[in-house]
Amino acid sequence: MSKKKLVFSGVQPTGNLHLGNYLGALRNFVKLQKEMNCIYCVVDLHAITTFQNPDNLRKNVLETVAGFIATGLNPNKSILFNQSSVSGHAELAWILNCVSRIGWLNRMTQFKDKAGSDKEKASVGLYIYPNLMAADILLYKATHVPVGADQKQHLELSRDIAQKFNNDFKCKDFFPIPEPLISKKVSRVMSLRDGTKKMSKSEESDYSRINLKDSSDDIIKKVKKAKSDSEQIPDNLKSLEQKPEAMNLINIYSEISKNSLDEVLKEMSGKEYSYLKKKLAEVLISEITPVGKEIKKLLGDRSHLEQILKKGNEKANIIAEENLKNVREKVGLI
Ligand code: TYM
Repeated sequence: MSKKKLVFSGVQPTGNLHLGNYLGALRNFVKLQKEMNCIYCVVDLHAITTFQNPDNLRKNVLETVAGFIATGLNPNKSILFNQSSVSGHAELAWILNCVSRIGWLNRMTQFKDKAGSDKEKASVGLYIYPNLMAADILLYKATHVPVGADQKQHLELSRDIAQKFNNDFKCKDFFPIPEPLISKKVSRVMSLRDGTKKMSKSEESDYSRINLKDSSDDIIKKVKKAKSDSEQIPDNLKSLEQKPEAMNLINIYSEISKNSLDEVLKEMSGKEYSYLKKKLAEVLISEITPVGKEIKKLLGDRSHLEQILKKGNEKANIIAEENLKNVREKVGLI
């Protein structure tokens, strides 16, 4: 197997990037950029598995690249591009649709959540979405994939598909089996309104999430309104087990302030949650608002962002075409 490490990950351009994307993914993207070659993709083909207004989609693709750069990704170091500009994603996805099994897809919990009660009405694209995700990763023969915990099952499927392709076409080690890189501490940032649901772009209430473009006032208001607990902050994690909203706030504070959970509990125990919220709003404002300001600034120069995508698209396409040529050969396509 090729020993060369290569990171690939993707983010959907479906609206505001939020704290979950930042802690679960973007911040790790930036760290990895220092250690390995990295390819980061705005996955517009994934976004259209649910209907997107075309003007919003165009705007959101640029906003997502702006988010990449504002959090610290360097387009001269990492490849930043959008998925639909490299047609190999769609081509490999088709080939992998023929390798992946219906039984495997039927187990995907995210499809069940997203399709809701009326699965007959969900797009076919939404159902086979995890195969496209496998294609994204395997098109570049990526070895490491940084994601939040919500993508773990999709990653496992990508591994199964890679393995089955290698077995079916008798080409052991052709596709590396991609390793998920999931942060141990904040792999799942939860909604500020309901600690049992993940923070997401699709939850109706904007009060459920901190967006990277939120102003200081927004952050203060949202943190103030966040669900917590009427009791005082305990001195141990065990007492927080049945209190997901309180646990979520403490986790976020620990992550942003870079203090361990034990240190946070030592600092906070016996205090009211209003104290934690005040401190949390402060650290969030100092970490998040500069990113939001930078996103807004970058969005002022659309052609600069388009130029970055164009360069990234060209670089990604070269790697994709080379790998696809070999895939076609293995499969017997001429
Ligand atoms: P997406 O666009 O939903 O989210 C982008 C990244 O943010 C992470 N994330 C979270 N992490 C922690 N807590 C949260 N509340 C939270 N919400 C989102 C996600 O785990 C993800 O890492 N299918 C993927 C995109 C994708 C992809 C890929 C990822 C397409 N192809 C190939 C990796 C490799 C998705 O919808 O992410």
